[in-house]
Amino acid sequence: MLLHPQARLKLRLLGRWTHLSINRYASNKDKEMLKEMEERYKKLAASNSKSLLKKHLTKKIFDNLKTKTTPKFNSSLIHCISSGLCHHDSGVGLYAPDPEAYKVFAELFDPVIQDYHKGFKKEDKQPASCFGKGRDFENLDPDGQFIVSTRVRCGRAIKGFPFNPCLRENTYKELESKICKALIKLTGEHKGIYMPLTGMDQDLQKKLIDDHLLFKPGDRFLDSAGATRFWPAGRGIFLNDAKNFMIWCNEEDHIRIISMEKGGDLGRVYDRMAWGEEALGKHIEFNRDERLGFLTFCPTNLGTSIRASVHIKLPSLMDQPEELKKLAEKYRLQIRGTTGEHTEAVGGVHDISNQRRLGLTEYEVIKEMHEGIKGLIEAECKAKGA
Ligand code: ARG
Repeated sequence: MLLHPQARLKLRLLGRWTHLSINRYASNKDKEMLKEMEERYKKLAASNSKSLLKKHLTKKIFDNLKTKTTPKFNSSLIHCISSGLCHHDSGVGLYAPDPEAYKVFAELFDPVIQDYHKGFKKEDKQPASCFGKGRDFENLDPDGQFIVSTRVRCGRAIKGFPFNPCLRENTYKELESKICKALIKLTGEHKGIYMPLTGMDQDLQKKLIDDHLLFKPGDRFLDSAGATRFWPAGRGIFLNDAKNFMIWCNEEDHIRIISMEKGGDLGRVYDRMAWGEEALGKHIEFNRDERLGFLTFCPTNLGTSIRASVHIKLPSLMDQPEELKKLAEKYRLQIRGTTGEHTEAVGGVHDISNQRRLGLTEYEVIKEMHEGIKGLIEAECKAKGA
């Protein structure tokens, strides 16, 4: 049977390696894989999953997209949806295997993006970057009553490279070495050291994770999205001397730039991240799309890719979950557990962050977050007095 060599894709489908080519020359094995994807899709469609993938991947769209591939990296629909097909408890369930996937599979990505980022339509465009000044925002909790800590991060992809499912061990290492070359140029408060995950002492790794500095391995959503292959090759963390500025290398995105500290000084934390991003951008060309802004592996992180979060105690509001949910919606905030995504709140401490990252500038993201947290603290004080 004739098989177009370019059409042979190596991918991890539902936890195992296989070859898939979905084109008119498809072999029997490839046809089997397509059938398996269809069966998995049917299961998702019949399930009571609340994921955005289930909501927006209609049969019509599935059929339109199931044989498409991206021109440069040859990614297919299964690369985008395998995580969501595996985990019906996904909130979203969709990833872009390479930058072109956002265009080739736009019929699926666009409605998911519009839904997640609260109305960013397919004809909308991300505004030009505008970081503004963090010092415009006063400390949200000067008396230290509510906010345990504040964190701001953004993700970046390096131009010319695809995302996780298309990366090989050597490309992970190539990315890492490009990033390290830029990291050694950082100065002042951003100066620090890079620690590769390969060969890292287990106790040190555990300590960094416990201190919320380092990512945890074994995220099942990333795993079935093909984002944990060749682990820990090319992965690592850069930490500044004061331990309040970090850069993650090749976790979910090529680069994550993070700033965090105790207390509620959102403006200061934001400025440290923004200046670090600017300094890094002098040595690395980031992949930015005219319409979608900074490109990331997960569509939830497009645009500014900024996630600003606080670990916050709101005991009275936590006793009124319906009211808290209403307020979070009003202020476009997302509530997570204490130790990150898909975790529970420990000791009444919640992780609350901006939900929208796309369709507004960096400065507007921080403003929205600042107003929201301020609103929640006001509501907490009222609920306490009531
Ligand atoms: N795929 C996961 C889900 O749908 C995570 C989505 C957003 N989080 C992320 N780290 N990209 O629940």
